[in-house]
Amino acid sequence: MYNLSQSVTWKKLQKLAENAKDQRIADAFVDNPARFEQMSLRLDGLFLDYSKNLLSADVLACLLQLAEHSPLRQRRAQMFSGDIINVTEKRPVLHTALRNRSAEPVEVNGRDVMPEIRASLEKLKVFSDKVRSGEWRGYSGKAIKNIVNIGIGGSDLGPNMVCRALLQQGDSNMRVHFVSNVDGLHINKVLGALDPATTMFIVSTKTFSTQETLLNANSAKSWFLEKATEQDVAKHFVAVSTNQAAALEFGIKTENIFEFWAWVGGRYSLWSSIGLPIALSIGYQAFIELLEGAHAMDQHFLDTPLEKNMPVIMALIGIWYINFLQAETQAIIPYDQALHQLPAFLQQLDMESNGKSVDVEGLAIDYATGPIVWGQTGSNGQHAFFQLLHQGTRFVPIDFIASLKTSEKSPEHHFALLTNMLAQASAFMNGDRGAGPQTHASCPGNRPSNVLLLDQMTPHNLGALIALYEHKVFVQGTIWNINSFDQWGVQLGKRLATELSGDIKDQSGDYDPSTQGLMSLVKQHLT
Ligand code: F6P
Repeated sequence: MYNLSQSVTWKKLQKLAENAKDQRIADAFVDNPARFEQMSLRLDGLFLDYSKNLLSADVLACLLQLAEHSPLRQRRAQMFSGDIINVTEKRPVLHTALRNRSAEPVEVNGRDVMPEIRASLEKLKVFSDKVRSGEWRGYSGKAIKNIVNIGIGGSDLGPNMVCRALLQQGDSNMRVHFVSNVDGLHINKVLGALDPATTMFIVSTKTFSTQETLLNANSAKSWFLEKATEQDVAKHFVAVSTNQAAALEFGIKTENIFEFWAWVGGRYSLWSSIGLPIALSIGYQAFIELLEGAHAMDQHFLDTPLEKNMPVIMALIGIWYINFLQAETQAIIPYDQALHQLPAFLQQLDMESNGKSVDVEGLAIDYATGPIVWGQTGSNGQHAFFQLLHQGTRFVPIDFIASLKTSEKSPEHHFALLTNMLAQASAFMNGDRGAGPQTHASCPGNRPSNVLLLDQMTPHNLGALIALYEHKVFVQGTIWNINSFDQWGVQLGKRLATELSGDIKDQSGDYDPSTQGLMSLVKQHLT
């Protein structure tokens, strides 16, 4: 019986935590001058420095024991081999198969799914090549110049973040826009600048039942039909979904439906045809390089001993802070404007995966699980919330992320960006007595951080970075013995929105007085 918080190792960590915060991270470098070399890891163009953590050798040893005594090894093997580890939806979890660049088969119910994965990639290639080359023509005979991806959550955040991160590698002739919010401002602002004759819409929705996406898709279609005809829809609307019937009913032609599978979770789906806008933006070959980078991280995660395993180390440091040093949040601070969407992407990846309070058997758990993930680019954060991080009362672990080389033609800017990040990471650890009035100006320091450095922002390195965080989330969820791959909590909101929108008109339904009062206010402004 796996009883995490009753384990000997857990109790050892609780003991070690009693005076952990009294130890100075900076002192650990004095005691061990080789700390930086010993507490950094590299995989291809991705470097992790985890030496500025509140992490002694004893603590790390105990954390590794926690991983050894957990179902990690078994569940990792199960995930990659297509076993049903998403136990509440009775599905395998195979985003790793989408980027499997080896000749190895991956079986679901005894059938190798790699041939259909390769077929879906081929379909992506043919379509994206045709649109990017100008071979694909719209109803007026013009080539496509603008792509509008209509989707939300995992059908938006992943492709959106990747397209922004790799914008410099993209084709400046092909503009990719993302519409996700049901707020009319979002779609109206995008469509207002576009010509239907040169615009391609991607209706991106795993279930093809998400209210926001369907409303946005229908509004886009109405906008399109102001200038074009129903026959023209096929040249300007494609769908990415597991629900072919609903896509056909919307009016998408069979050959324009890019399918993927129920065993791909929304927040893990950018490697599937949900990544179509990525291929349209940066080209199919670059999309494959993204997959290759993630595949390299998959192999690292599978083959590397736990003590040298990047996702495992990051996961264990997080568990140490969350479960033993009471960290409630995890800050993600990319010193890279191209990664400004990364915190939002990681919010869904982490919080929708590990925001759970029962274990895989459905039993209530008695320890903390997924943290609140938040963040913003540096150096902006220095002028917004770094004050709290330096002098506040809260314990907030930080992941700093940057690229050593830039494709921008402004080396002095990049130098300033990197030196700011290094200075901040150092100041968080070392603190400062301050030049002003003693207690008001002093920064206590001893505030931990990881630094992740990409050699440069390439599809390969970005793919490895994303897969690193996917596997970190998986390792934490496995040690916490939760199902990281369902999301029952979000279904409630979806259901209530549908019910309430029906009840508000005739003031029916059984709602609390506050909701009823608000409903009548809204009703007054609806009519
Ligand atoms: O947020 C709930 C959720 O189901 C996510 O898991 C998913 O990425 C998003 O909504 C969109 O779902 P769909 O792709 O089915 O429209």
